[in-house]
Amino acid sequence: MNPGYIFTLFLLIVLPLLYLLISTKKTCKKLPPGSWGLPFFGQSLSFLNAMRTNTAENWVQERVRKYGPVSKFNFLGTPTVLLHGQAANKFIYTCDCNTLANQQPTSIRRLMGERNITELSGNDHKRVREALVSFLKPEVLKQYVGRMEEEVKKHMEMHWHGKEEVQAMPLMKSLTFSIMSSLIFGLEQGARRDALVEHFQHIINGVLSMPVNLPFTRFNRSLRASAKARVMVRELLREKRETLKQQHTSAASANQDLISCLLSLRNEDDSILLSDEEIIDNAIIVMVAGHDTSSILITFIIKFLANDPSVYATIVQEHEEIAKSKASGELLTWEDLAKMKYTWRVAMETLRIIPPVFCSFRKVLTDFEYEGYIIPKGWQVMWAACMTQMDEIFFPDPSKFDATRFEKQSPSPPFSFVAFGGGSRMCPGNEFARIETLVTLHYLLSKFTWKLSCRDNSFFRDPMPVFNDGLSIQIKPKKL
Ligand code: HEM
Repeated sequence: MNPGYIFTLFLLIVLPLLYLLISTKKTCKKLPPGSWGLPFFGQSLSFLNAMRTNTAENWVQERVRKYGPVSKFNFLGTPTVLLHGQAANKFIYTCDCNTLANQQPTSIRRLMGERNITELSGNDHKRVREALVSFLKPEVLKQYVGRMEEEVKKHMEMHWHGKEEVQAMPLMKSLTFSIMSSLIFGLEQGARRDALVEHFQHIINGVLSMPVNLPFTRFNRSLRASAKARVMVRELLREKRETLKQQHTSAASANQDLISCLLSLRNEDDSILLSDEEIIDNAIIVMVAGHDTSSILITFIIKFLANDPSVYATIVQEHEEIAKSKASGELLTWEDLAKMKYTWRVAMETLRIIPPVFCSFRKVLTDFEYEGYIIPKGWQVMWAACMTQMDEIFFPDPSKFDATRFEKQSPSPPFSFVAFGGGSRMCPGNEFARIETLVTLHYLLSKFTWKLSCRDNSFFRDPMPVFNDGLSIQIKPKKL
């Protein structure tokens, strides 16, 4: 054979093959340990089952024991790397958005809209986040303490007074829905709010369903509810724009609710900051992100207080002192909330032990190296940030409910208490959640005593914690 021909063949076939072999070997060598499991399903069923049986912490720990803090697995057909520990939390929360992007299930994008904050990255994310924070910051929220208390009162009068037993979890969900409807959409009690709340309940039911849009699927019902909710929110937008025009966008009218606030935001050249679609999508996501989390927090505080007489006695004393300092019927103020220091520590300790958000996902946009392993583009990162909250290195005797841990200025090293996340995606609603929680607890502790009904108090994750029996409690009005 012609030597030139052999040489060309060598260049065209053997060299590329050799290169592929070497580079694949090099990459494989550096991929994290772990197996892919069954095709498509991989380890999805065992993880989802662990969530449903409230053993997800054990599931993660088992993997960490077997493979270390970095391991690969297959979650719903996507190659996934589990990163674990405080260093992983820090890495993910401080990672640039060109390497890791937010990743939500398809169902969330379809139900909440493509312009919702969790779908955005880079400058778009920054712009929308700043817009939301301009309403969710303490300086603005402090004027709503009284409005939230009015909502709590109305709710308690309707659903708690005159009852001997209630289910705390569904009631707290209904309460946080009411508070958010008032402050996000500016909707007071009435048929319109009831209709919107119903649509939201259907939307939420489909958030983690398989995104199969066929008649009679759960996802189809949620999509239809989302379309109806959007029509209502769009109409609200039109009305509020009209009101703002008439009132010449005074600061007071602009801050009436989230929608009015977002409508009145302008760029330096006076052009609008957010499009109508962005306002609608983000009002919807805030409503969904905000109501489930805070209601879970308050419900678990109710449970912990019922189980711990000494914590209960201390918290009651704090609220009695505040109540004594007020005239009958006088609404709570921002200054009163500042006095509820112990109550917020109880809330933080509750969030440490039962964080509403167990794990999150990010999409890998470019190959990166972590702890000596290559994590390829196209994979997803999963991490259960809050596992550090039960690590005795950071929180000694972690299973013990001890609110005094949060007395210190910095109770734990950075990235170990992460119930509200961290970095550029840290929860912008934490102040809102704090106000809601404190106001609700003040009312409950001042008006009722309660004990757990002797039934099943276990819970599972769906993916948020859900009590099997809704947390039934027996309540008694307090003698004043
Ligand atoms: C106890 C209550 C709450 C907890 C534990 C909580 C927890 C979290 C966590 C962990 C994240 C970050 C998720 C990630 O990194 O992937 C987050 C994001 C978010 N939360 Fe909250 N949240 C709470 C209440 C609220 C409230 C009341 C609101 C609205 C009023 C809200 C709105 C949001 C929004 C819009 C995001 C997305 C932020 C972004 O992508 O930049 N949350 N929350």
